[in-house]
Amino acid sequence: MNKLKMTVLGWMLAASAALATDPTDEGMWLPSLIGKNEAQMKKQGFRLTAKDIYDINKASLKDAILSMGGFCTAEIVSDKGLVFTNHHCGYDAIASNSTPQDNILDNGFWAKTNADEKPIQGLWMRRLVRMEDVTEQILPQLGGLDEKARSAKVNSLGSELTKKATEGTHYEASVSEYAKGNAYYLLVFERFTDIRLVGTPPQSVGKYGGDTDNWEWPRHTGDFSVFRIYAGKDGKPAPYAKDNVPYTPKKFLPVSLKGIKPGDFAMVFGFPGRTNRYETSMGIKLAIEKVNPTIVKNRDIRLKAWKEEMDKDVATKLALSSEYANIANYWKYFIGQTQQMQRLKVYDQKLAQEEQFKAWAKGKPEYENLFADWQKAYAAYEPYALHPQALSQGVLGAHIAPIAMSLAGLEGLLKDKEKNKAAIERTTGNLKKNLDDFYGAFNVPSDQKIVAQTLLAYYNDVPKDQHPAIIGEILSKFSAGTPEESFKKFAQEIFLTSNFASKDKMAKFLDNPTEEALLNDWAYKYFADIRKNYVGKYAIHVANFQEADKKFARTYIKGLSEMNPDWVKYPDANSTLRVSYGNVQDYAPRDGVQYKFKTTIGGIIEKYKPGDYEFDLPKNFLELYKNRDFGQYADTDGDLTVAFITNNDITGGNSGSPVLNARGELIGLAFDGNWEAMSGDIVFDQKYKRCINVDVRYVLWCIEKLGGSDLVKELKIVK
Ligand code: ARG
Repeated sequence: MNKLKMTVLGWMLAASAALATDPTDEGMWLPSLIGKNEAQMKKQGFRLTAKDIYDINKASLKDAILSMGGFCTAEIVSDKGLVFTNHHCGYDAIASNSTPQDNILDNGFWAKTNADEKPIQGLWMRRLVRMEDVTEQILPQLGGLDEKARSAKVNSLGSELTKKATEGTHYEASVSEYAKGNAYYLLVFERFTDIRLVGTPPQSVGKYGGDTDNWEWPRHTGDFSVFRIYAGKDGKPAPYAKDNVPYTPKKFLPVSLKGIKPGDFAMVFGFPGRTNRYETSMGIKLAIEKVNPTIVKNRDIRLKAWKEEMDKDVATKLALSSEYANIANYWKYFIGQTQQMQRLKVYDQKLAQEEQFKAWAKGKPEYENLFADWQKAYAAYEPYALHPQALSQGVLGAHIAPIAMSLAGLEGLLKDKEKNKAAIERTTGNLKKNLDDFYGAFNVPSDQKIVAQTLLAYYNDVPKDQHPAIIGEILSKFSAGTPEESFKKFAQEIFLTSNFASKDKMAKFLDNPTEEALLNDWAYKYFADIRKNYVGKYAIHVANFQEADKKFARTYIKGLSEMNPDWVKYPDANSTLRVSYGNVQDYAPRDGVQYKFKTTIGGIIEKYKPGDYEFDLPKNFLELYKNRDFGQYADTDGDLTVAFITNNDITGGNSGSPVLNARGELIGLAFDGNWEAMSGDIVFDQKYKRCINVDVRYVLWCIEKLGGSDLVKELKIVK
């Protein structure tokens, strides 16, 4: 244990001599240990201290940083619980509060008074109260356990620790695993559940550039939205109640209008979701050749089918917008990841590192066979690798799929209707409550295409010997020359005859469900079978691989830390709070081209295409631009900066994170990564990786000038 502590933990968390000379930008550091990086941060321009970032005895910056629903980051910007995050983080809240009559997604929205703010059901935000290294209380007890027993043990030790940590408080806690289980931290949080939407720009501004510009620089997206946290009268978190009061935070971020220039210090503080920087060459190869193309192909099917219908009417567009945006985001992500892994020769980089490791590992029993064993695990897994993707990214992405599968519990009960009467009533009662959710975004024409095309993708991509019998049955019953035509015919049949092809039909079925009707329903037969086949026969191979892979990765990381005792590293992102520091910096995407570090409002106008789905603009935007009415938000040259780039190390989940200047003042909101470094979750590329941020001055301009809201008065502005 002591050895482990000195190596893995030391390596993971500490700064070293190497760090003191090189400016570094790679790294998602643990806030409680950021003191080790302080000297380097100061060298790069930081003017505060580590204690200003993380302190458990007095308010520090970390108290203003929130995990938003576990998928994004948000930050508190006023003493009345006002919160900034990205537009794409608020997107679902905004879209689900839009109707064709009151379309705040397209038109924007600014609450005039607190009473106009819109409560968002189900949305929570939480602040890290403290974090504590509990590795020594966990790791020594895991020796010799296999992966299942190990995670059970971690869970039970974890729940003792979290119980102790939260006793007598209103806090919640969890124990999180770092570096694939080489370290553990206890994290204590304060969770707020009364969150209200205060405002949003129209999506033509908040999502300007759409999927065409997504993941790319130069960028002109006003990617922000504004919420407020409400608390009980005692200032503590409380469930939604009309007379809850705006939360008084321990800490909120001042907002700087001073602007940015290349080289300026920049720090991103937030909750990055997942990186996989220790992915192996085998994993890269599998991703490039098989997994990524399957993900992209299946997402593409859904996107095209939905888009066609979304273009037809506003109600459909609103119903599908949020899901469309999510699927599109990672559709493009995986295209870019594949492309950049190839361009940056990530496979070769990994291979070279692995060769070094293997040479070092010779004669060391713990490590000597690691890669040979790992390779074997990959070989065993490969035939099954596409199966879960073809399901989760494809077949089960049809909206009728989860509906049909929700009947699985009923199947057994219906065998004896009399005996199970009460249970059947309970089950159908619960399903009836879900009908609105089930059919909220249900759209027959697109779903019918999705069923047919994802089945074809499954048929082509998943090895034939893994197909369920139902596929053969479909091919013979709906035979139409080619599998493609047969699957089309089959999908047509589903939406003509299934009991689940509309809300009314399903309601009727639930009034009087019979085993016969269920078992003769093609939608039910198909989705229940294709899932049962996978869960019953193939999921085990995937689970076994994932377990083995994690164990190997844990050993690899431990080995690497022994191999490089002075190595400066941080653990992979795991949705816990991290600090990334760096500087404002431009880059050259390719030979002969230099991208600037910022974009301006003129660029928005250059891209403007009236009526376009992605590049339209609100009318008053053009008006304001013509008058060059930028107020106090103008740069020194009179222009309005829209976005800028820094070399901060971020990933998904960081979206909405504050970008802070040397004094801890808000200068922007991180919202994206750049195309040339789309392989960044696997390897951080010094030369190319940038973090794309919306300039806070553009945010405030959109609130005040474009939105006509006086919210800016509530902020602490630093000029
Ligand atoms: N790429 C951004 C991120 O993952 C999300 C952008 C959302 N916009 C969109 N057009 N889908 O943080």
